[in-house]
Amino acid sequence: MQINLAVVKGDGIGPEIVTEGEKVLNKIGEMYGHTFTYTDILAGGAAIDKTGVPLPDESLEIAKKSDSVLLGAVGGPKWDNLPGNIRPEKALLGLRGGLGLFANIRPAKLYDALADACPLKPEIAGDGIDLVIVRELTGGIYFGDRGERNGKTFDELAYSREEIERIGRVGFEMAMKRRKKVTSVDKANILETSRLWRSVMHELAKEYPEVEYSDMLVDNCAMQIVRNPAQFDVIVTENMFGDILSDEASMTTGSIGMLPSSSLGSTSLGMYEPIHGSAPDIAGQNKANPIATILSCAMMLRDSFGLMKEAECIENAVAKVLDDGYRTGDIMDEGGKLLGTTQMGDKIVEYLKK
Ligand code: IPM
Ligand code: MG
Repeated sequence: MQINLAVVKGDGIGPEIVTEGEKVLNKIGEMYGHTFTYTDILAGGAAIDKTGVPLPDESLEIAKKSDSVLLGAVGGPKWDNLPGNIRPEKALLGLRGGLGLFANIRPAKLYDALADACPLKPEIAGDGIDLVIVRELTGGIYFGDRGERNGKTFDELAYSREEIERIGRVGFEMAMKRRKKVTSVDKANILETSRLWRSVMHELAKEYPEVEYSDMLVDNCAMQIVRNPAQFDVIVTENMFGDILSDEASMTTGSIGMLPSSSLGSTSLGMYEPIHGSAPDIAGQNKANPIATILSCAMMLRDSFGLMKEAECIENAVAKVLDDGYRTGDIMDEGGKLLGTTQMGDKIVEYLKK
């Protein structure tokens, strides 16, 4: 297969981790007969520095023509004091909105080898953590109207039935391929949008009788994730709740440095990125954990291109490297063998086996 990727190396540790992702993809290409080409596009802080805007039109155009987008991380303190419309984060929203990527998939899985890095007590984590958050990504409060009215500042939260239904469906379909359990998270005791959310989800649930369905209020969910994470399989929720809960869920797996994500729309073009940020404090020091990016590449192969064997090959290599005690600083434990970013990438490449 010939696969053309648009690549946002981004800011902070972004370029370092993306390099490792490309390294792994290139090796997979060699092993399985695929060719990957990479077109770097400017987005985020780097784009602001060069062009004055977080997402130049040209970047979005190239992304639209690509087969998928690989993204490192954007943002950093350097751009913190700019006005809201030229913040680096705007690039992410622009790419998500511009590419129609309405479904954000964020799996949180605790690797056996990292059980010690999990901040939860063993009796809580012991039942296993293997959940996925399906977050609505192009609607809700992040895309609503904002401004000032009658002496108050406001951010509008609005959802249409269609927006809820299409993300709900992604959640149910995902559950069908997993443990057949959907928890829909809302704040229906307060929010009108959540009441619509709940009613649409209930209608959908009828189409998936095999799926065990339940509703949960978002505050309760935040508590349940640390009280009993094993109860969750697929969590489906709106944009802001998903943003918050996915950071929380990620930490239960030991390090936010481990978790990949995909953003999908109605075509095979997706955007793949680690869920962590640009970690400016360790940028350029060969300290960042490239695993989340490498696992994002695996997600890409599976979700956008249907390359199951290749995706598994990467995931197996990562698990094996961890089993053999190789660690980056963020997941270092007693007896662990500390590797830098490049060395971790090399190690994973070395462990890729057909
Ligand atoms: C994320 C990030 C972004 C979001 C920010 C940087 C816009 O927190 O991908 O979770 O809130 O979606
Ligand atoms: Mg977030």
